[in-house]
Amino acid sequence: MYPLKKGKFAAQAHVGLPEGTYEEEHGRKGFYGKTAHLYHTHPPTGWIRFEGKLRPHCFDLNNLAPSDLTDPCGSPVAFLGNDDVKLSVSRRAHPMPFYFRNADGDELLFVHRGEGVIETDFGPLRFERGDYVVLPRAVTYRIVPDTADNFFLIIQSKGEFEQPEKGLIGQHALYDPGVIVTPEPVPPADGPSPSGTREWEVRIKVDDEFSKVFYPFNPIDVIGWKGDLVVWKVNLRDIRPVMSHRAHLPPSAHSTFITPGAVVCSFVPRPLEQDPAALRVPFFHRNTDYDEFIFYHDGDFFSKDNIKAGMATLHPRGIHHGPHPKALANQSKKTATDEYAVMLDGLNPIHVLPAGEQCEWKDYWASWQEKK
Ligand SMILES: [Fe+2]
Repeated sequence: MYPLKKGKFAAQAHVGLPEGTYEEEHGRKGFYGKTAHLYHTHPPTGWIRFEGKLRPHCFDLNNLAPSDLTDPCGSPVAFLGNDDVKLSVSRRAHPMPFYFRNADGDELLFVHRGEGVIETDFGPLRFERGDYVVLPRAVTYRIVPDTADNFFLIIQSKGEFEQPEKGLIGQHALYDPGVIVTPEPVPPADGPSPSGTREWEVRIKVDDEFSKVFYPFNPIDVIGWKGDLVVWKVNLRDIRPVMSHRAHLPPSAHSTFITPGAVVCSFVPRPLEQDPAALRVPFFHRNTDYDEFIFYHDGDFFSKDNIKAGMATLHPRGIHHGPHPKALANQSKKTATDEYAVMLDGLNPIHVLPAGEQCEWKDYWASWQEKK
């Protein structure tokens, strides 16, 4: 069926909007399902006040101080979550004196800042800024940073992190799987355990409770492995985004990982649309089926005012978001984006946890108001 049409509308989505209109994409299933484009005479983010709990959120995660920042035995702190996914920040500054195994979920660890080694059952894996490290559920690991000022965004999911189907654009689109890095097994060195004793501790998390198992030898003693359930990583710099010079593509074109209940997308620098009639900023939308989280990693976040690296936004379903007025007005002057960000769309409502509330910029909802 082709779309029904009434009143003033653009012949194609995101191109040649009728004069004086603001286009909203009202759609289902993220950006895959049925859609209507609504041509508003005001930006749908032009609200003046809110009542009730629903509103756009912004967090300055730079202000979080997880216990692992100062205590080698400490932990990351969770700031958002639901039954499917939990988002935490780790600022681990010291080598872990124990091994860790998360039996509650698979982990996707994004390195916002820092470098070092993750020792895993599959061998040691070096990490650096911009890495996505995939740690399947119940893999044993230990983070050994080389740097003291580290910042990891950790996404825990009840299911696996898989690569999306690339369909028509082929398996080498977004990044060639040849850039994926996996660990090499290395026999453990002789000597004391990371805690300086002859006891090796494995801390296991189940139902958010920790239990400890102790060995008289290093449990990371694997000297060979085979299979398709492995620790692996890919770096943001290796992501080569698809774009269209004639039409703004939806965020789903930038999908990097699919996990039950969530999709993770990566925004990396790209040229903006060249067609003079094409929209160059994200269209307004009201997230019908997903709550949308974005972590700002690096660059100039031009569609958003007052957003700096290390901050994050959460736009819940049912309420609009879209470009800030300045970005909308200046879109014709920009020729490229210079931003690196990690987006997570959650199928079920994502809740703000106490640590999130502590670092929330409470007036973010007012940031779309035109400065008079
Ligand atoms: Fe969005």
